[in-house]
Amino acid sequence: MVIGGVASAAAAAQQPESDRVPGNETARAHPELWPALQSPLAPDPALERRVRQLLSRMTVEEKVGQVVQGDIASVTPDDVRKYRLGSVLAGGNSDPGNDYRATAAQWVALADAYYDASMDIGGGHNAIPLLFGIDAVHGHNNLVGATLFPHNIGLGAARDPELLREIAAATAVELRATGLDWTFAPTLAVPRDDRWGRTYEGYSEHPEIVALYAEPLVEGLQGKANSRSFLSPEHVIATAKHFLGDGGTYEGRDQGDARISEQELRDMQGAGYPPALKAGVQAVMASFSSWNGTRMHGNESLLTEVLKKRMGFDGFVVGDWNAQGQIPGCTNTDCPAAVNAGVDMMMTPDTWKGYYETTLKHVQSGRISMQRLDDAVTRILRVKMRAGLFEAGRPSRRPLAGNAALLGDPKHRALARRAVRESLVLLKNQGGILPLDPKASVLVAGDGADDIGKQSGGWTLTWQGTGLKASDFPRAQSIWSGIAEQVRAAGGKATLSVDGKYSARPDVAVVVFGEDPYAEFQGDIKSVAYKPNNTADLELIKRLKQEGIPVVAVFLSGRPLWVNREINASDAFVAAWLPGSEGGGVADVLLRDRQGKVAHDFTGKLSYSWPRSAAQSPVNAGQGGTPPQFAYGYGLKYGQDGNLAALDEDPGLDLSALQSARYFEKGGVAKGWRLRLDHAGAPVYVERAGDTHDAGITVVAVDHKAQEDAWRYAWKAPGISSIAFVAPEPLDLSRETNGDVLLVMTMRIEATPAADTALFVECGDKCAGRVAVGAQLAKLPANQWMSVALPLKCFASAGANMASLTVPAGIESLQGNQLAISEVGYGTVSDHVLACEAP
Ligand code: BGC
Ligand code: BGC
Repeated sequence: MVIGGVASAAAAAQQPESDRVPGNETARAHPELWPALQSPLAPDPALERRVRQLLSRMTVEEKVGQVVQGDIASVTPDDVRKYRLGSVLAGGNSDPGNDYRATAAQWVALADAYYDASMDIGGGHNAIPLLFGIDAVHGHNNLVGATLFPHNIGLGAARDPELLREIAAATAVELRATGLDWTFAPTLAVPRDDRWGRTYEGYSEHPEIVALYAEPLVEGLQGKANSRSFLSPEHVIATAKHFLGDGGTYEGRDQGDARISEQELRDMQGAGYPPALKAGVQAVMASFSSWNGTRMHGNESLLTEVLKKRMGFDGFVVGDWNAQGQIPGCTNTDCPAAVNAGVDMMMTPDTWKGYYETTLKHVQSGRISMQRLDDAVTRILRVKMRAGLFEAGRPSRRPLAGNAALLGDPKHRALARRAVRESLVLLKNQGGILPLDPKASVLVAGDGADDIGKQSGGWTLTWQGTGLKASDFPRAQSIWSGIAEQVRAAGGKATLSVDGKYSARPDVAVVVFGEDPYAEFQGDIKSVAYKPNNTADLELIKRLKQEGIPVVAVFLSGRPLWVNREINASDAFVAAWLPGSEGGGVADVLLRDRQGKVAHDFTGKLSYSWPRSAAQSPVNAGQGGTPPQFAYGYGLKYGQDGNLAALDEDPGLDLSALQSARYFEKGGVAKGWRLRLDHAGAPVYVERAGDTHDAGITVVAVDHKAQEDAWRYAWKAPGISSIAFVAPEPLDLSRETNGDVLLVMTMRIEATPAADTALFVECGDKCAGRVAVGAQLAKLPANQWMSVALPLKCFASAGANMASLTVPAGIESLQGNQLAISEVGYGTVSDHVLACEAP
């Protein structure tokens, strides 16, 4: 069983949003304080007239259809035909035919099917071509074979706006090859707290880099405003996201609250928007996050007064994944407040139908004015016309479409490889051990050495970037393979050994290790300690050093993390971020060429400050206080003195206390957790298996993978009894619930569960969510270990407040039931996923 990320049980985040507003800051912006801008696109009266004429022919149902976007996993072409939906998206886990390996041809065919439906004028409808959006956030990352560029954090280290322009343009071409015309990029967040799971989506903690990149990114994707290249068939619509303040949330919590002044919101978090708007970005995505306690999707002053009126944005605002449901008083399927605040197209992936129906009702009742609806539709139609969609014909007939050779085009891969070279930051080079001699004997070790999924990070083929295999990357090169190629070509010897064992003693070892892939909130962590409870990489480095082998550490990560122990143990240390498909770029810089010369020096400079201790977060340039370990802008070159005195190894906090996403594992409840047994309303707490008590259930230790690593629960007493895992402090799993996260248990069913068996959570006094699963469990194989899961969403639908779980997992059943359980926690992968209601 794979259990995701690290728990988000941040006690400090338990306060209700309304209590959070510091001082007298409010969430109402003052538009006059913001830059006054105008759309850079020359006025086009003919186009505007065409928009008005079309609008005047549309029924209210057609108009509402335009402002609704569903996900391809939940919308069929027939739905588009019937509801006249204006757009679909492919979410991180959504693919044609539900297959993440779907080919370019399948994507084009799917785009055609939706397009045809949108153009079907049967029943007197207007033909309005649909927009198909996707997260091409480091290349066209959902497609097998596409070029995977380094994640944005690495590109920030490159400090090279022209490189960014070329990357954006190459990404647009690969999108076009699959019939798609809209990407949810660039991310203009300025991440200020690296505990945020999306830190790698941001180019820098410093607004200057984000501002420098915004224009070339938008121009690379869309083409240059007022030129023939603008939204031409090699270009796509770009989305500046997430407006506004996503990178400034308290404690780096994803979808959290930015408790910052309006000035900081504008000058820090907002720095990328004026240049993106001046470059003519056509879409802006509203942020999940809040500003001083108010959800951005409900913030009219920022969405409408500032963005649209003051800053002259005349494209459309798209919502984020069911973010509307987080506005107080809204649900995913009912949220006039977000429309009225200024969201033009709502991203309602699986909830579009209910949302469509209530929105129609609100327009009919006047709760959403016709004027507001017309404005939203006008903006969407304007962008569709600017993009030439009405003339473009079927996606498959457009230039580039179906040209699968463009995915991973050698030119794009060469560009990505250059980007990798430019993104590497050298933190230490003791005794000038780098560059390495390619004629030497090089051992390449570490679990990141030959793993393209790991070097690519989240948003790679799947949302979290997990569960991938080498064959998923047909046109890509691992870091190991890049080193081996160059070493062997020079007559040296290269050996791959993930665990660092060798038979012939190497001259040097390159150890590639780091964070495993994650996306969004699943990457949120409680401190910037690197893998606080797992020192395997450190031990590997130390062992090689003890054997007298010099070690070059190549660190893969989505953010700077506290790795002082690993840095001390290594001779050289390279921050390689998440380089993507072109691992060869690492070898280009680490190795001399065959003539013994340096072909590529390090040029990367930190675009984020590197922490001095695991407790040092946030840490940012110009922040004052304890200086970082390596400052913003740091980065060694060859020829410079790369020697470092030993760094402080005091983590600054108790690493063992950092909570994991498991409530029970290795034969015991997690630190601070308790197991509660309850029969007839008389709870008892059990510390060890075998404890005697009188709660209707016996608990004994049994073996799964290790001795006594599981507990067996036998329901003995008549009537209902339950087991419950009680958290030390209420857990906030609201973000996990909104995603695809599951309650996962590794279990062995030892007696057929009664139909009344239920899983439940508790959220304080008289608050619970209970889901009957007995009938589904009874169909699973008995007497074998497997993981069984239930989506967290099911508990929310059953009435639980997922923001404050006192018991995030419990099972109730009747006499005769018997289960052995070795792990309980939350995660995204399971052998069996149960449905909320018995099918
Ligand atoms: C993310 C966005 C993304 C969207 C569509 C959301 O969860 O916050 O960045 O564009 O999903 O996949
Ligand atoms: C989708 C992502 C989305 C996320 C939001 C996932 O299921 O695939 O695109 O960003 O949910 O929580």
